[in-house]
Amino acid sequence: MGTRYFAGKLVAQNYAIYRPSYPDSVFALCIDFLKNGISNEANKFPLAVDVGCGTGHQSTVPLAKYFDSVLGVDIGEKQIAEAKKSKHPENVAFQVSAGEALPVENETVSLLQVAAAAHWMDIVQFYKEADRVLTPGGVVALFSYASAPETSNHPKSAEIDPILKEIANRPEERGCFVSGNYMVRRRYADECFQIPYADKTRIDNIIHPITNTVEDYIKFCKTLSPIRKMEEAEPDLTKQWMEDATARLLNALETTDMSSKFTYNLEVHMLLGRKPH
Ligand SMILES: C[S@@+](CC[C@H](N)C(=O)[O-])C[C@H]1O[C@@H](n2cnc3c(N)ncnc32)[C@H](O)[C@@H]1O
Repeated sequence: MGTRYFAGKLVAQNYAIYRPSYPDSVFALCIDFLKNGISNEANKFPLAVDVGCGTGHQSTVPLAKYFDSVLGVDIGEKQIAEAKKSKHPENVAFQVSAGEALPVENETVSLLQVAAAAHWMDIVQFYKEADRVLTPGGVVALFSYASAPETSNHPKSAEIDPILKEIANRPEERGCFVSGNYMVRRRYADECFQIPYADKTRIDNIIHPITNTVEDYIKFCKTLSPIRKMEEAEPDLTKQWMEDATARLLNALETTDMSSKFTYNLEVHMLLGRKPH
């Protein structure tokens, strides 16, 4: 569905550098939910699969300490090539695969995780595949970050936050949002996302504070698919607007230095569900 937005080599390289990971609490919530349903004498669970893993460091590698093996899969060959090149623990492997047809045996996966990718898949087919690969009591976990980042307790929040909001909202105003982007905006509230198991929960407002330089923040924004779509559609206008927004952000931060740091919060939302025993 949304594969075209992630296919390029440069896109994958920028992902590897500028895409943030998630707070430890996100992965801990998955593990706690998993532990509540499976009695596990061993220290670790056998296998986790991270679907739409991108370049791996964001959502796959943080699982390594909880599992004997972790497999990151992504439909993008360039993303997997970058993931394989990256420094990662020995129990983590990467493979090109669609999330809707996973390269694993029936009932072998304890945790099937999808970070910022469920809205690009055929979710009905994915849930069928989840049911095939999950062990009884195994968990499917979907999460993403939505909405514009906000600074917290920054003395200049009133000046900074409207610019962060403008950067997040501009692609929609320019007609560069596709259905997957709206699904994220709605925080996976659409009926199709609801996990087809009785034992399920949703968790909202997991705050993810990130400290970044202005330069890296702008480069992170440029990895976001709606911004890249807008760059394709209106290259000159987008370049000009981006430069202007960056100048105003620097001004709000009372600096001219692109390496000045500031802290903003991303907000993560999460759906968890357990395959029945
Ligand atoms: C926004 S990135 C998320 C990367 C990483 N998980 C993260 O949280 O930052 C979405 C990824 O999903 C992948 N993707 C899109 N459709 C897919 C599908 N049907 N099956 C597997 N991966 C898919 C894209 O190639 C892309 O790398």
